[in-house]
Amino acid sequence: VESVIVAIDGPAGTGKSSTSKAVAAALGLSYLDTGAQYRAITWWMITNGIDVADPVAIATAAAKPAILSGTDPIDPTITVDGVDAAGPIRTPEVSAKVSAVSAIPEVRTALTDLQRSIAASAVTGIVVEGRDIGTTVLPDADLKIFLTASPEARAARRSGELKGAGSDVLATKEALLKRDAADSGRKTSPLAKADDALEVDTTELTLQQVIERVVTLVEQKR
Ligand code: C5P
Repeated sequence: VESVIVAIDGPAGTGKSSTSKAVAAALGLSYLDTGAQYRAITWWMITNGIDVADPVAIATAAAKPAILSGTDPIDPTITVDGVDAAGPIRTPEVSAKVSAVSAIPEVRTALTDLQRSIAASAVTGIVVEGRDIGTTVLPDADLKIFLTASPEARAARRSGELKGAGSDVLATKEALLKRDAADSGRKTSPLAKADDALEVDTTELTLQQVIERVVTLVEQKR
């Protein structure tokens, strides 16, 4: 394969972002964080006064914000209507509201189109991470990985990343499980393992071990 397409899916807190960025950097591939795009739309809706409990309001506004994703794995940027959104998309408020926004079909169509065009323009190839990459966005990906980990491991990792108010492990676990349930239970392209995806349980693995495993799998495809 001259240009390799790698899809990495899984629930929150399994190490998708850390793994995807490191694999892309090690192999000279581009990188796309599709979760950041769903967060960016959500942040735009909140700051523009759109009621995220109102599916019609979300659908109507879905195509309005211009989302731009930088694909450098060392410095992945994201802007919304030209404004740097890297910081604001990681707040607990956005995390709590993103599942409601990402469940709306019009939002998914807008972002899926964008994600496919970014993947198609990656010269050496790309690592794309999300929830529905292997099943829906890039069903012909050369390699599909589905990362999992126990709820305890996921909550512990995520609360280690957060500082201050959000760092309570139990509260983090509740929020993560709630988001996963919403993402897995929605009608349109739910969080799911593709039939031809390789499942990697990261509970007992270090980040370095997961990276090495995925790098080896990609190299076998090139
Ligand atoms: O990956 P991250 O946790 O930042 O994703 C945030 C949210 O974006 C997910 O909980 C999910 O609701 C949504 N998402 C999605 N499809 C993707 C990636 C993320 O619905 N491909």
